[in-house]
Amino acid sequence: MERIDNYKIVEKIGEGGMGEVYKGIDTMLEREVAIKMLRPELSRREDIVERFRSEAIALGRLNHSHIATVYNFGRVDDQYYMAMEFVPGETLDSIIQQHGHLPWRDAVQYGIQVLEGLAHAHQSNVIHRDIKPANIIVNGQNTLKLLDFGIARILQTARLARTKHSIGTPGYMSPEQHQSKEVDARSDIYAVGIVLYEMLTGQTPFQHDTEYGLVKAVIEDKPKSLRSIDKSIPAPLEKLVLKALQKKPEMRFVDAQEFIVALRDCLAIQDIKSKRKPEIRKLIPNRAVKFCQDYHVVVVMGVLLIAGSGVAVRQWVDFPGSPSLLTQQKNTTSLAALLKISIDTLPATIPQDQLMLLQNAADKGDARAQAYLGRMYFNGTGIKQDYATALAMFEKSASQGDATGQNGLGAAYALGRGVDKNEAKAIEWFQKAAAQGSVDAKKKLSELVGSSAAVKAAQLTSETSLQANQAAPPKAVKKTKKVYSDNSDNVDLAPPPERYDRYIPRNR
Ligand SMILES: Nc1ncnc2c1ncn2[C@@H]1O[C@H](COP(=O)(O)OP(=O)(O)O)[C@@H](O)[C@H]1O
Ligand SMILES: [Mg+2]
Repeated sequence: MERIDNYKIVEKIGEGGMGEVYKGIDTMLEREVAIKMLRPELSRREDIVERFRSEAIALGRLNHSHIATVYNFGRVDDQYYMAMEFVPGETLDSIIQQHGHLPWRDAVQYGIQVLEGLAHAHQSNVIHRDIKPANIIVNGQNTLKLLDFGIARILQTARLARTKHSIGTPGYMSPEQHQSKEVDARSDIYAVGIVLYEMLTGQTPFQHDTEYGLVKAVIEDKPKSLRSIDKSIPAPLEKLVLKALQKKPEMRFVDAQEFIVALRDCLAIQDIKSKRKPEIRKLIPNRAVKFCQDYHVVVVMGVLLIAGSGVAVRQWVDFPGSPSLLTQQKNTTSLAALLKISIDTLPATIPQDQLMLLQNAADKGDARAQAYLGRMYFNGTGIKQDYATALAMFEKSASQGDATGQNGLGAAYALGRGVDKNEAKAIEWFQKAAAQGSVDAKKKLSELVGSSAAVKAAQLTSETSLQANQAAPPKAVKKTKKVYSDNSDNVDLAPPPERYDRYIPRNR
């Protein structure tokens, strides 16, 4: 076949149970597409056509940077097809096969992206039910997309109630899926646990020659400790993976978002720890070690002598690993320090661990962190500019009375960024910030309404600030969460691209 509807077929790129997947070109829109074709002999089976269409329906409900978008579902003669976003790159499956396993930080970043896509699907009541590395594509920008919603289930929809077909992939299916029990979003969380396990160790936790043996192991056996396979996997990370793999759904993370926060925390904490780790061993030459062993009495006396003049020594000796340096380093990476500095002095880019601390604090409701993140998103400093997210952050922060958040909303309305331009609303928000003493807000107000009016307004608002703080935040704000997603053009936030070049060939 050379074409179907508006699509010119270029080459076959995949093959699965129900049909084949081709790369194609949408000749009208002149863009690449992936076309999934249902095997013609299956097009007479009503149940299978329905299942094929259900994938398009599930995908059609979703719109997320970590989910391949569906463009079209159609039929030409006996041929059903689905056109979707073409994702250049490699499946996670083949990446794991080529590399054995991934460095744990990469695995966690990937896990977070899968969970971000799933969080969106779950919010739309779609459960994927077949999360596995073969259904995840990693593109050249190191962004990951979920594919194959072929057996996704749309909750509360009778039409797509459980089918008779065997569904899912045994090694990735949760115990409750194997037992044909009611399945919810927590089964996807279990599957993410398996995918993380596989990325980290290069193997799935349960293996058996027979399917019966495998199913029995999934239902009954404890997964082998990850650290017994690779000691370099951080213990807190192992704990998170094993939590996702709990047999009882209620023992797992309550939802994808909770899992994301836990992974981000783990990444941030480990990064801080590794920065603090003193490299003393490297600094001590072997000869010195031998000297200490041979003449320990001399060494002990020397140490006592140094300790005696401890205060004096302490003032000028600061070697890696000394307590003062540890505290210093801890402070510079702590969120508290980050939030204390003036927002205007926020560096253009901040390290990823700090960004994650910031994101987590914002998720947990910290108004300052929300204002900071909002500002970064608004100005596109250190993160890809995204007015919708910026506004969502400002809104949360402003509703807690944070002046920076209020200023942010004022600026958005004044400039018409992410919301329709609305001077009255801009003035309203600047007034609230001015009432809290924000110099910036007063300046903006004097630009907008003249200085005397600004001062008067500020005084007025100050008197009624409690009341004013309850003013409704804008409604037109679309809430999206994108810290790792779509920031591909931002080299400072994305992990260095060359690390990933080894995963992704450029010729696709
Ligand atoms: N949108 C896409 N962009 C690029 N490749 C794709 C796309 N969709 C599918 N593929 C390729 O086709 C393979 C099979 O697709 P998938 O949706 O998983 O179907 P199946 O139900 O047959 O498993 C994938 O593993 C991937 O290699
Ligand atoms: Mg598949």
